[in-house]
Amino acid sequence: MGRINIICVPPADVSICKGANMGRLAVTSARISSNAAARYSVALCAVIVALAARCALNPLLGDYLPYVTLYPAVAFAAWCCGIGPSALVTLLGIVGTRYLLISPKYSLSLPYAPQGAGMVAFALGAAAIVAIGDFVRRDSAALHRAQSDLEEKVQQRTAELNDANHNLGELSARLLHLQDEERRRIARELHDSVGQTLAALSMNLAAVGADIEKLAKTASIITDSTALVNDMSADIRTISYLLHPPLLDEAGLSSALTWYVRGFAERSKIDIDLQIPQDFGRLSRDLETAIFRVVQECLTNIHRHSGSTVARIVIAHSDGHVHVEVEDKGKGIPQQKRSEIISSSTGTPGVGIRGMRERLRQLGGALDIHSDGEGKGTIVTARLPAIAPPPPMEARSAAAGSLEASA
Ligand SMILES: Nc1ncnc2c1ncn2[C@@H]1O[C@H](COP(=O)(O)OP(=O)(O)OP(=O)(O)O)[C@@H](O)[C@H]1O
Ligand SMILES: [Mg+2]
Repeated sequence: MGRINIICVPPADVSICKGANMGRLAVTSARISSNAAARYSVALCAVIVALAARCALNPLLGDYLPYVTLYPAVAFAAWCCGIGPSALVTLLGIVGTRYLLISPKYSLSLPYAPQGAGMVAFALGAAAIVAIGDFVRRDSAALHRAQSDLEEKVQQRTAELNDANHNLGELSARLLHLQDEERRRIARELHDSVGQTLAALSMNLAAVGADIEKLAKTASIITDSTALVNDMSADIRTISYLLHPPLLDEAGLSSALTWYVRGFAERSKIDIDLQIPQDFGRLSRDLETAIFRVVQECLTNIHRHSGSTVARIVIAHSDGHVHVEVEDKGKGIPQQKRSEIISSSTGTPGVGIRGMRERLRQLGGALDIHSDGEGKGTIVTARLPAIAPPPPMEARSAAAGSLEASA
């Protein structure tokens, strides 16, 4: 239906799309055709103008072509006014021409044959023009109606488009409003929940950051304290075991000495050779304790005084006696000092050797210290009756006190 060519221009100018002149004539014809009086009035004016023009041309044309100006008037009337006014123009044109231009002038009598033939020819030509004009006028009217319908449809569509645009505008505004509301809600949520949480987290981090140095120091102190506690626990365990090895009561002298010598060798880095029979058996509790303390004191003295890197311990059981020998390859003890140690009156400040001697004496045994001189090492020997007599209560208390001091 050629919508593109028509919609591309404003509706009021649709007729122009088919040609300006033709459009104007069609519009004029349509307006005139809508009123019968106007049609006839226009037709009357047209014939008057045509006759006046022909009269004006009379000096030039004379009797020649008396109907020449009526053809345009008939064509105009046929185009714009319809059949009736066209017929009126034709009839008035013939009568007027006869009266004004054809001899004898100012008479309505039938003209002579040549003029009569011209009259008939004009009448036929006018009829043809009227027929063609009516056809064109009807076609133009149909085109005009189609244009009007199209214009109406265009206007209707334009109104619909305007409504749609208006609705789209309202929808866009609504969407923008909702978008703003949603953004405002999300912003409020972020501020009230996440923001507050982050603020709290930030404060926590700031507090942690402020205390990080303190925490590091605290952690270091705790680590050191934990190490101290562990060391203290190990020391307490070791001290407890050293004060009185549980193996000594539970497993006997052999097991207790084996455990103690191994640990002492590890701590002192002294290579110790312990020789004790596997079937050594058990002795009395006081005897096992005395022998254990003698070995303990001798190894301690080797570590503290001899400078020896090796030591040898031999424990044997024969002739109803227990023999204990502790030897080192250290610097030895000079004779004078040995005498001082052995002498009870001029003894050294140390209580180790004196305590051993006293303990052994209480158990019926004896202690001997042998050294060949400077750099020849030291040998400490103890000899105890295998079945020791039960010591008196006082002696047991004294022996116990000596054991604690030596540990
Ligand atoms: N194996 C040894 N090698 C060299 N010198 C020794 C040895 N054993 C003991 N002595 C000497 O004998 C001295 C007396 O030893 P004793 O065990 O009685 O006392 P102490 O070890 O000095 O002190 P503590 O009362 O702590 O035992 C020591 O000061 C040391 O000079
Ligand atoms: Mg000592």
